[in-house]
Amino acid sequence: MSFCVAIDGPAGAGKSTVAKAVAKERGLHYVDTGAMYRTMSLYMLRNGIDSRDEKAVTAVLSEVHVEVAYEDGIQLMYLNGENVTGQIRTDEIGMVTSNISRYRPVREKLVAMQQKLAEQMDVIMDGRDIGTCVLPEADVKIYLTASVAVRAKRRHKEFLEAGQEVTLEEVEKKIETRDYQDMHRENSPLVRAEDAVYLDSSDMTLAQVVKAITDRIDEKRRA
Ligand code: DC
Repeated sequence: MSFCVAIDGPAGAGKSTVAKAVAKERGLHYVDTGAMYRTMSLYMLRNGIDSRDEKAVTAVLSEVHVEVAYEDGIQLMYLNGENVTGQIRTDEIGMVTSNISRYRPVREKLVAMQQKLAEQMDVIMDGRDIGTCVLPEADVKIYLTASVAVRAKRRHKEFLEAGQEVTLEEVEKKIETRDYQDMHRENSPLVRAEDAVYLDSSDMTLAQVVKAITDRIDEKRRA
C-alpha cells in the first residue's frame, strides 16, 4: 500500500508551495491535481469551447488526452502529447478551470487518473476534493486555508513576478468568485473532510506550515 497525504483548500492558500516542500522533506511524489484540470481548460480555450456550456465541454472530452510525467521530481503536464507545463498558470485558465471542474464527466476522468497515480507511488496530492473524494482513505489529510486578503496578496505577487499586470483588487475579486464557485458547486465542492487537520496559514511562515504537516506524517508512519 502506498502512503498518501491529501491537501485541500481554496485558491492561493499556498497548497502547492507547502506540498512541494513536504514532498522533498519526506520523499513523496507531489501531485498537483489543479494542473490536470488546467491542462484540460487549455484545450477548451484553444478550441473555442465555451467553458460555461457543459454539453459542449463534455462532447469533446474523448479528444482531450491529459498526461502527467515527472522529471527530476517536477510534475510536467502534457496535452495530447504536447508539453504545456508553462502555459497553464494564467488567470484566464484559472477561471475557465473553475467552470469546467464543476462538470461530473470532467471530474470522473481526472479523478480516475489521480487514484491510479496514488496506487503506484507514495504521494502528497493537492486539490479541492482529495481528502473527500479522490483519496478518502489518505493517511494524512490537511485542509489548508488563509484569509482572502492574504491569499490575494500572495497571488498578486506571483503574477507580478511572472510579468502579468493585474491590480490587487482584481486578484482579490477573482479569488472571491473562485472560492464561491468551488465551494458551492454540485459535484465535489470544496469542503473540509471531517478528519482533516485544519491549518490557517494567514499568520504562519512556510516553515511552520511544513513542520505541522511533516509532524503529522511522522506520527502516522510511526503508528
Ligand atoms: O489549485 P488550482 O488553482 O490550480 O485549481 C484550479 C481550479 O481547478 C480551481 O478553481 C478548482 C479546480 N480544481 C478542482 O476542482 N479539483 C481539484 N482537485 C483541483 C482543482
